[in-house]
Amino acid sequence: MSDPVDIIEVGPRDGLQNENRPIALEAKVRLIEGLAGAGLRHIEAGSFVSPRWVPQMADSTEVFRHLRRKAGVRYTALTPNLKGLEQAMSVTADEVAVFTAVSETFCQRNINCSIDESLERFAPVIQKAREARLPVRAYVSCVWGCPYEGKTDIDTLLSVCRHLLSAGCYEISLGDTIGVGTAPAVEHTLKQLLREFSTNELAVHFHDTYGQALVNIDRSLNLGITRFDSSIAGLGGCPYAQGASGNVATEDVVYLLKGYGLVEDLDLDALIETGNAICQALERENGSKVARAVLASRR
Ligand code: HMG
Ligand code: MG
Repeated sequence: MSDPVDIIEVGPRDGLQNENRPIALEAKVRLIEGLAGAGLRHIEAGSFVSPRWVPQMADSTEVFRHLRRKAGVRYTALTPNLKGLEQAMSVTADEVAVFTAVSETFCQRNINCSIDESLERFAPVIQKAREARLPVRAYVSCVWGCPYEGKTDIDTLLSVCRHLLSAGCYEISLGDTIGVGTAPAVEHTLKQLLREFSTNELAVHFHDTYGQALVNIDRSLNLGITRFDSSIAGLGGCPYAQGASGNVATEDVVYLLKGYGLVEDLDLDALIETGNAICQALERENGSKVARAVLASRR
């Protein structure tokens, strides 16, 4: 029996996309292989976007080519348009993801089009991916707040989710891009969505800017959500959301979920080793409290 909950590891994409300094291809590949080795089965390994917009992801093709793939692991990539999908297919990504927002301003800054235009642009991407039997995930940013517009609108969210699911995406990852959501706000939004969509159509993607991510995950779990995005060592931020910090750290989510006995397949020590190695390579502080505590106790 596999674990009843899933972690979608986004560190190699959401985490690394925001790093300013160059990162060696070898370090990226080692990171992804370490994550798979620790038992993660869904790893966002790169992003086929404009290298002028997000230079750090410019070598995603090379990352996919150099990766030694582990059986049973889904290696996925962001694909905002057909050009991105073609690149993802050329390196046989196992799954692709489209991404939009519930804020017009964020959508413009992030992918240079309106929300409606993004949905139009995704239609052929989703169709072509499905013809090739590639599962398509969809991200919706700014669900609990936008860096430019503040509070966002639940009706827009419902309509965007409806559109993406009926277009053929199998799941919506609800992004708290700037980490402002609180547990009551998360509960309120999820309850509205769950009137119309099922728990297995929704995942949550919490950045931890305000330190609310773990409690928000716990609240989502209580409402039946079983799919959680996280980033090893809390790597990341968002290039189009100033001040946003990384996603909730995978090690911290795993520690919480192990408390519930829900992720027996994952090796927390191996995750901590992998997170520590990439932090050393990036000369960056480890954003996982669990990793910091475990590493300190070993000294
Ligand atoms: P555009 O400029 O409107 O597109 O960008 P375009 O079709 O006019 O193309 C312009 C240039 O980009 C052309 O090159 C294209 O070839 C190239 P030029 O002729 O000027 O040399 N181009 C591409 N190159 C490589 N791969 C592609 C591609 N498409 C066009 N796929 C575009 C539109 C979406 C491409 C651009 O805005 C872009 O790349 N944006 C980056 C968005 C991004 O990666 N954001 C970060 C990820 S989203 C996120 O972090 C949020 C999330 O984590 C959830 C959350 O936390 O909320 C998912
Ligand atoms: Mg994100």
